[in-house]
Amino acid sequence: MTVRTILTEPNKILRQISKPVQTVGKEEKKLMDDMLDTMYAANGIGLAAIQIGIPKRIIVMDISKEEHKKEPRFFVNPVIKNRDNLKSTYEEGCLSVPDQFAEIDRPKKCEVEYLDYNGEKRLLKADGLLATCIQHEMDHLEGILFIDYLSKLKKSIIIKKLSKNKSNRIVV
Ligand code: NI
Repeated sequence: MTVRTILTEPNKILRQISKPVQTVGKEEKKLMDDMLDTMYAANGIGLAAIQIGIPKRIIVMDISKEEHKKEPRFFVNPVIKNRDNLKSTYEEGCLSVPDQFAEIDRPKKCEVEYLDYNGEKRLLKADGLLATCIQHEMDHLEGILFIDYLSKLKKSIIIKKLSKNKSNRIVV
């Protein structure tokens, strides 16, 4: 398994719409393993393939709280079947928008149909943090970042900050 580089905003690749996966084979499993490693290494709770530059509809997630009890989840070609009218609000961050956080409202519950790590079709009823996390990650598949829900002004301030950080970044 390999830790890959996570792309950060501003980056046009993050705005691509990811393509459905045809079959969950060896290559896709290797990708999911790498994504999970990359996510754990970055202390994230969710990661979409496009965040490491691969436009496939694949998400990995682990929202378990205990450090030693990992509960990885894999979603291939996820589709939301049902959404709640009730909203919940979380302060969201994103591995592709480093060190920036904002309160975002999303449907409190949702039902998601997807293929798991073994390519089996599954339906998950998600609530609370899990529902929010799934919706955040599924936005990545459409090229949407959480900062897109903010006012133009707030968003531009964040992008400016991130661009500045980038220009100061050196790799030695
Ligand atoms: Ni994200």
